[in-house]
Amino acid sequence: MATWWQSGAIYQVYPRSFQDSDGDGIGDLKGIEARLDHLVALGVDALWISPIFPSPMADFGYDVADYCDVDPRFGTLGDFDELLAAAHARGLKVLLDFVPNHSSSAHPWFRESRASRDNPKRDWYIWRDPAPDGGPPNNWISDFGGSAWEWDAVTGQYYYHAFLKEQPDLNWRNPALRAAMMDVLRFWFDRGVDGFRIDVLWHMVKHAQFPDNPPNPAYRPEMGGMHAVLQLHSTDQPEVHAIAAEMRRIADGYDGDRVLIGEIYLPVERLMHYYGREAPEVHLPFNFQLIEATWDARHLAALIDEYERALPPGGWPNWVLGNHDRPRIASRVGERQARVAAMLLLTLRGTPTIYYGDEIGLADVAIPRDRVQDPRELREPGLGLGRDPVRTPMPWNDSEHAGFTSGEPWLPLGPDWSTRNVAAQGGDEASMLALYRRLLHLRRKHAALAVGDFRLIEAEGDVLAFERRNGDERIVVALNLGAEPQPFALPEGDVLASTRGGTPKSGVLRGDEGVVFLARPA
Ligand code: NOJ
Repeated sequence: MATWWQSGAIYQVYPRSFQDSDGDGIGDLKGIEARLDHLVALGVDALWISPIFPSPMADFGYDVADYCDVDPRFGTLGDFDELLAAAHARGLKVLLDFVPNHSSSAHPWFRESRASRDNPKRDWYIWRDPAPDGGPPNNWISDFGGSAWEWDAVTGQYYYHAFLKEQPDLNWRNPALRAAMMDVLRFWFDRGVDGFRIDVLWHMVKHAQFPDNPPNPAYRPEMGGMHAVLQLHSTDQPEVHAIAAEMRRIADGYDGDRVLIGEIYLPVERLMHYYGREAPEVHLPFNFQLIEATWDARHLAALIDEYERALPPGGWPNWVLGNHDRPRIASRVGERQARVAAMLLLTLRGTPTIYYGDEIGLADVAIPRDRVQDPRELREPGLGLGRDPVRTPMPWNDSEHAGFTSGEPWLPLGPDWSTRNVAAQGGDEASMLALYRRLLHLRRKHAALAVGDFRLIEAEGDVLAFERRNGDERIVVALNLGAEPQPFALPEGDVLASTRGGTPKSGVLRGDEGVVFLARPA
């Protein structure tokens, strides 16, 4: 019997941009609660909310100053409890974002740690003496560019930060820190949350001797400074697995199938280790291959096949098309192919994660220079690495500010918000929203789609076709990844969904056409 996180779909809410309830232009928990019925109508099973904890917002909440409270901009702990109860009352699960690799430099732990070399919390962070020339201890580079080491004149040492200097890395080799962070999981599990997405899980432990990372032979400056070296010694160390296994034991100690999802950008073979080899680790190591893939039938078929084959026994697959860090699918493949992509995401074998706004085909929004907020863009401008374009407010209707806020939105709305919004698409059978609802409905209705086996049928030209099967139920998904018609023979049976509407022609897939087909039992 499949669990909810296997058969269900997850929806990512970026809380600053979902719904504002108090007119400050920033989304909040009461806003999310007011929009839960959208998620019910959409047909998802769980929402994952990006960080809501007290934070100076140097990295918009991924710099946590208190792991066990709610930032006033988002509301209160009481608001969170209400949101959780309201979600549960609707049958929705709620996942929070756990950020264990680093805290904010404003966290009281870091203030103590940097106060003196003999402070009891000194070792809760990563402090090193300078190199003999007085420079940083090694060549490690921050993911946001520049040295990952920040000099602290007061105590005469450097501290390590894989991201901003306002995000010092925690030292997971310290048992007291480790215990304190495990208590954070218990705090939220005790309140009733159904699981966590774990931020940069593969970053959590660094090589004990801090050797230099090797240079990256493929580096080009436009990739961003972090790619100048390979993160061989600063990430994916063997000791991380015992930590993930401990988190899993905590999750498993609670009733009701709590789930852990790991954010991990690694090649497939290494990603698989995070299911756990000696002991279970995260239930779902995020599979980001579709986020990075070239939109080509053979390429997609090969990566799906590679992923399916690499899964360990009992390991449940998952797929992600977009998130708050990467360009939106509608901008990557265009509006028509975004419909085909939605069909792919929601018919592959494994738990899909939908990024807010993708269900109405939201595209990246160009941000005027004077409105840029993202530290990624501010630190390495002009490379196209900024994440503001994918974090713009959700357009709900055609009223002022798209129903998102009564104030001035923290980031601008896209130019098409008055027509591309939830209300407009809700009444339009041909809309992207209608397609998402239809596909999510089909996943609930047909076990073959939710939990059935996967078999590739064809990857020829622009056609990617596969079969999902559960017992006698057999569903064929045929996708045309191009704009030109392609030959493809659908079997006998019924069309359950189409990206283009109307009746598919026999023997051919129209341009940008994807079809879900219930094959007649032989
Ligand atoms: C990954 C998050 O998804 C990203 O938004 C954040 O900037 C970094 N981790 C640092 O927490």
